[in-house]
Amino acid sequence: MQHYLSRASEKPIVLTGDRPTGPLHLGHYVGSLRSRLSLQENYQQFVLIADLQALTDNAENPGKVTGNVLEVALDYLAVGIDPAQTTICIQSQMPELAELSMYLLNLVTVAQLERNPTVKDEIRQRGFRRNIPAGFLTYPVSQAADITAFKARYVPVGEDQLPMIEQTNELVRKFNRSYGDVLPEVEAILSRVSRLPGVDGKTKMSKSLGNAIPLCAEPDEIHRAVERMYTDSGHLRVSDPGKVEGNVVFMYLDAFEENTALVDELKAHYRRGGLGDGTLKQMLEVRLQEMLAPIRERRHQLAHDPGQVMDILREGSEVARQVAARTLAEVRHALGLEYFCR
Ligand code: TRP
Repeated sequence: MQHYLSRASEKPIVLTGDRPTGPLHLGHYVGSLRSRLSLQENYQQFVLIADLQALTDNAENPGKVTGNVLEVALDYLAVGIDPAQTTICIQSQMPELAELSMYLLNLVTVAQLERNPTVKDEIRQRGFRRNIPAGFLTYPVSQAADITAFKARYVPVGEDQLPMIEQTNELVRKFNRSYGDVLPEVEAILSRVSRLPGVDGKTKMSKSLGNAIPLCAEPDEIHRAVERMYTDSGHLRVSDPGKVEGNVVFMYLDAFEENTALVDELKAHYRRGGLGDGTLKQMLEVRLQEMLAPIRERRHQLAHDPGQVMDILREGSEVARQVAARTLAEVRHALGLEYFCR
């Protein structure tokens, strides 16, 4: 424990989170899981299972959130997030985060919240119209609290999270101007592929849109997903020249095939004509199968002992809570909320 805390001060702090509303998918993998794997060695990394944030649009169904905390943790461990290097914690088990949200909420206007483009998209997708839960509209503030309570300097995220980082920094500046320098500004670490479309080619990959490939997908599920992937509707015969832009199979090859020379060659061949969608999809499927097989196997093994996984989450949450509590002590001091201190 001591070891953890002293190490925290040496390395720059990185934090990310995920909403536990279902198992994680390939979009999470390219957007941030992959970066977390490479960051965990050289940074003090916190990964937050954001159950409070997930409740902001699942209030009537908390079981959907609580029931997926373990699933998300299994995904983390299966892809190789190492609890010896990364502190995995659960948002709701750190009340300091909710407290910091309360202070930050006073530093943003409703109009500013309504301008967040990611939240706007989500409101449209969820069909809230005029009935937006206040918690949902304000979740970027709660996310800013997640980030700043740990004094994170870097946040590895997909493109859709950039507005959150911007809003976090606005809050940080406002907080520091109002109460004194306490919270650090943060920087996004954008992954090489920061936005993966769903298999239908529409919008981003998302479980709720039914266009996702979960990390724990079985081989036949992967096969079916690749089979229904959108390519180029004008590419009718193998000999026809095909379009690479907007072609989902190529976007996935860009994201998952490390041999970029091979991908370039395939693109040239496809554009010229003579490369069929079936052949192309088969290559992608082989790559995805080989990438997901070890993750799936490891996940199956870990799932045999959920108690051990929950122990990791409990310990992580305890360690993380101490870090957040130190920041909150500074925050309360800055605001003068120390009535009973000697
Ligand atoms: N909003 C993020 C998502 O939907 C999840 C999240 C919660 C997060 N808290 C965070 C991301 C803190 C980065 C930092 O994926």
